[in-house]
Amino acid sequence: MKKVIINGGKRLCGTVEISGAKNAAVAIIPAVILADGPCTLENLPDIMDVRLMLLLMKELGAKVEKITNNSYRIDATEINKTELNEKYTSDLRASYYYLGALLGKKGKASVASPGGCNIGNRPIDQHVKGFKILGAKVTDLPNGAVMVEAKEEGLKGNQVYFDIVSVGATINIILAATLAPGFTVIEQAAKEPHIVDLANFLNLMGAQISGAGTDTIKIQGVEKLTGCTYSVIPDQIEAGTYMVAAAATRGDVIIKNVIPKHLESITAKLMECGVSVSDDYDDEIHVKCDSRPKSCNIKTSPHPGFPTDMQPQMTVLLCLAEGTSIVNESVWGNRFRYTEELIRMGASINVENKKLAVVEGVEGLKAANINAYDLRAGAAMFIAGLAAPGTTEISYVEHVDRGYEKIVEKFKKLGADIERADEKDPVHSEFFGD
Ligand code: EPZ
Repeated sequence: MKKVIINGGKRLCGTVEISGAKNAAVAIIPAVILADGPCTLENLPDIMDVRLMLLLMKELGAKVEKITNNSYRIDATEINKTELNEKYTSDLRASYYYLGALLGKKGKASVASPGGCNIGNRPIDQHVKGFKILGAKVTDLPNGAVMVEAKEEGLKGNQVYFDIVSVGATINIILAATLAPGFTVIEQAAKEPHIVDLANFLNLMGAQISGAGTDTIKIQGVEKLTGCTYSVIPDQIEAGTYMVAAAATRGDVIIKNVIPKHLESITAKLMECGVSVSDDYDDEIHVKCDSRPKSCNIKTSPHPGFPTDMQPQMTVLLCLAEGTSIVNESVWGNRFRYTEELIRMGASINVENKKLAVVEGVEGLKAANINAYDLRAGAAMFIAGLAAPGTTEISYVEHVDRGYEKIVEKFKKLGADIERADEKDPVHSEFFGD
């Protein structure tokens, strides 16, 4: 178990650089399988989930060469396997993107049960529906593993209408359809920035995908893709986390290497709380908070709505705000468990039906020993610890290391008094020889 100790109550001030987007990187890495040539991926965040996706690529037989901590050359042209067992797949959700990528390139795949944060039911019925519509047979294997196989005549473009908006299903169907002959239309597609980033990467290699970022994505299947060099977009959620941390500590922080357009919903809500947010430059945002924030209501929803992955962090700010806020979680069925930890820090939160949190703002939080239950809940615990005067100890920080590059160093650079209780490299040092 990894721990972090924070002596909180200090204003965060200074500049922080945002890393590449986790949820774009974990889709783009398996997409390399579709290329008939090596790809160089740049601006990959140096986090556990990315390393696991690269290890899975190696398991399949791809050559994975580290150029720097944030860029890798991947040659998947000679992969010789289409099966991934539970070694690593159960450590993260995105392992199921190998289903779409291998199906699209090799016509078959089997992937052991994917893992990921425990934030509610995570069915894959929409992925399965889409694969079937494209002409694949889908078989459930023991212990949650799934096998997909193109029927004899191969995959063929078709119309895929999703019943709900799903990031993962949209990505998996894009991966499966890119090389499928004919025309695929995805209706009710997810519109997150990482969907657009994946489509941009594939188009650079020769794919014909239009409409990414809207409800309808159109894919004209192409015969082959060529390798390329591509730089992943900045992480919208990492940026949002530092924005909220700046506000919660009444700080003054410039957040660099961002796409302000991707942060609009977070910016709007912070401004509603009375926090000053300015984006005078194309790639940075300035967050400043001099007085107690005001309450506001939040409802999470797919992009461009308020991101569910920012819900726990924003709730910490609302705990400190003047007045009552209502937080409505409409994406995941169980994403309020962390509120127990905030209540131990003196927050006043009432969760109703696991869907709604009524937050009565308090003047301040008290330091405590708390747990990081999952990735974003863990990031929220960092913010709570930074805002609360006294010594807060956070356990299970490995969840946070899955998705935030150098989080302790970045907060330290902003003036936080924060240390890891263990000395080892947070992102397992045995990987890739460092
Ligand atoms: C992605 O998960 C992200 N993960 C999640 O981020 C994020 O919370 C989520 O999208 C929503 O934005 C990655 O990108 C790796 P969904 P995903 O399919 O794709 C239901 C983080 O912290 N659903 O959009 O798994 C599902 O139960 C993580 O970085 C079905 O019913 O999410 C949920 O209620 C946590 N059937 C809703 O849709 C399906 O077949 C949205 O899920 C698929 C999904």
